Amino acid sequence: MWKGRFQQSTDKLLSEFSESISFDWRLYSHDIEGSIAHSKALLAAGIVTASEQKAIETGLRQIGADIDAGKFQFDPALEDVHMNIEAELTRRIGPAGAKLHTARSRNDQVALDLRLYLRAETDAIGAHVRGLQRSLVDLASRNSEVVIPGYTHLQRAQPVLLAHHLLAYVEMLDRDAARLADLRKRIDVMPLGSGAIAGSTIVLDRALIARELGFAALSQNSIDAVSDRDFACEILFAVAMIGLHLSRLGEEIVIWASSEFGLVIIPDAFATGSSLMPQKKNPDAAELTRGKTGRLYGNLVALLTTLKGLPLAYNRDMQEDKEPVFDSVDTIKAALAVNAAMVSQLEINASRAAISVGDPMLLATDLADYLVRAGVPFRQAHEIIGKLVAQCIETGRGFSQLDLAAFQSFSPLFGQDVFEVLDLRRALEARQAPGAPSPANVRAQLERWRKELAAEG
Ligand code: ARG
Repeated sequence: MWKGRFQQSTDKLLSEFSESISFDWRLYSHDIEGSIAHSKALLAAGIVTASEQKAIETGLRQIGADIDAGKFQFDPALEDVHMNIEAELTRRIGPAGAKLHTARSRNDQVALDLRLYLRAETDAIGAHVRGLQRSLVDLASRNSEVVIPGYTHLQRAQPVLLAHHLLAYVEMLDRDAARLADLRKRIDVMPLGSGAIAGSTIVLDRALIARELGFAALSQNSIDAVSDRDFACEILFAVAMIGLHLSRLGEEIVIWASSEFGLVIIPDAFATGSSLMPQKKNPDAAELTRGKTGRLYGNLVALLTTLKGLPLAYNRDMQEDKEPVFDSVDTIKAALAVNAAMVSQLEINASRAAISVGDPMLLATDLADYLVRAGVPFRQAHEIIGKLVAQCIETGRGFSQLDLAAFQSFSPLFGQDVFEVLDLRRALEARQAPGAPSPANVRAQLERWRKELAAEG
């Protein structure tokens, strides 16, 4: 493509080092759509005739169909997807093909392709996020009566409805979906017309191109347009964050599926066995979800590092943006799909939950609150109940095995109604502040999510 100035052909070592066709071929459909829109602007500017534009469009669509069908041979000597398609077009339709790259550079072309690709993938990832939210809401609804110990420091803390715990993930994923919707606005900006760096003396109707491709805005600075990869960093961050959330869920599923917890039973279809130990059933899907988060972080840091310190405008370093982006997009879509499917088939062992939540210590804070209502300052109440807990541990008794006299030996303010505090159901029902897990609140939240996620389509 640059043979005019050069006396030697590219060394094989350099072509192998610099080719990107082995991975950027994946942009072909976006490259073709972009080129078709560009050809329409060339027609409007009088650079190509109507029949030339038609030949370009038809030729590009045929190339697209051949690639779809796996009948296209990419040539690494042509470096990237842009030059492969353009060279093939010219081979097929002659001089009209050679006019296509007028007033365009691969610098604005690759920026366009990446934006088109990421705009579509942002929507696809968003849909997968919604899918996992639906699976979590379904699991919560099917087990809406199950109460589990909530944990802090992985030590039993206070009773919560399992649904409340699962809805915490639905909230996290909702922020992820909102983040995707927000960053999509910054992807949805049309860079073509920026050329290599300084636009072109041949002025094209950029608004026409944007309309053809459904972009909401035009980039406003040709230097920024070809240098900017902020939007790619943003999606890598959003995906890393989703990975973080999935990793926490994965960790919980691993713990919950252990014999020690026994709270969930993973469907056989989403577990694996051991080649040696016949009894094993391993939570590989959850573990791999947790493990793959590492590469999502790596991809984000890789691109941030690649871009750091690059002078304006385009530098070839920027070709390194694609592999991390492709890898993160592929990885998160697969992880979200696997988890949505697995979560919707998780079985909850309600009797194990009942045993764990029968731990009377879970209501120690409720006992302190009882004293507070009788006028004891909370710090003092905390200490009194702490002593009571210590004695229970020492004597191996639960709160409900104590009689009123035993309670009163810790505080005269205890009355007969203390035993009502020890009722799990009542303890949950009392937690009525917005966001707290009273059964009525959790029911309302489940209802809200069911409606919102149905509306999401
Ligand atoms: N393959 C290149 C990339 O991915 C396309 C842009 C090349 N531009 C250039 N001036 N060499 O970034």
